[in-house]
Amino acid sequence: MYEDLDRPPLDAPALARALAPDGWRVEVHAEAGSTNAVLAARAEEPEGLVVVAEEQTAGRGRLDRVWTSPPRAGLTVSALLAEPSPWVTLWAGVAVARTLRDTAGLEAFLKWPNDVLVGGRKIAGLLAERVGEKVVLGIGLNVSTRADELPPAAPGAAGGTSLLLSGATTLDRDTLLRALLRNLDAVLVERSPMSYRALCGTIGSRVSLQLPGDRIVEGTAETVDDDGRLVVDGVAYAAGDVTHLRPPA
Ligand code: BTN
Repeated sequence: MYEDLDRPPLDAPALARALAPDGWRVEVHAEAGSTNAVLAARAEEPEGLVVVAEEQTAGRGRLDRVWTSPPRAGLTVSALLAEPSPWVTLWAGVAVARTLRDTAGLEAFLKWPNDVLVGGRKIAGLLAERVGEKVVLGIGLNVSTRADELPPAAPGAAGGTSLLLSGATTLDRDTLLRALLRNLDAVLVERSPMSYRALCGTIGSRVSLQLPGDRIVEGTAETVDDDGRLVVDGVAYAAGDVTHLRPPA
């Protein structure tokens, strides 16, 4: 039984029924270490498998970070995809931003590669992990998370937010998950780099880019190239951690 009445459980049978016609096989787990790890262990199964955890105890983030969220306070979900494009997480960011706009009334922007920001604060993160021919796409979205439950901001970073803290028009996780998976379907059909670029707040900003190995590059983010790399002062980078120093002029 759950105790926090503001955080009802997901309606697993209704979700599975509603999303089956779109090709998603949705499983809601009461608890998982990491939904990405659960799917990585089941990567032999056909694409379309989706695992959602009501509580994640060892959530993984990009660049060896962790993703934490109180039970039922957000969506912690992974989808198994047969999608070879390096754009998969970038398009998934577009799906999250559209879901926030159309379903929750929030204007979201993307920080390259795939942090989703509302009001300059991170509301969702994405982590794609390749397993053989498949990709496990993990999405963490803060829904009813309160300020004191958010992880402390990294030095120099703006910190996190949630739908609750951003004044969303709904906190209904069932509705949000349905919209998210339908938007994910749509962006994977559209396959549009332009949709990503239009939402990417990094493009045109003055940035500090921390590269793997801790080298830092500072400059103007000019675009995201056709391979999904961030171009800073004419040089393309495939991975890194961006801090926005100044928004576009
Ligand atoms: C990041 O911003 O660093 C990426 C965070 C990704 C978190 C999600 S929650 C569901 C899925 N399972 C995980 O262990 N991680 C992803």
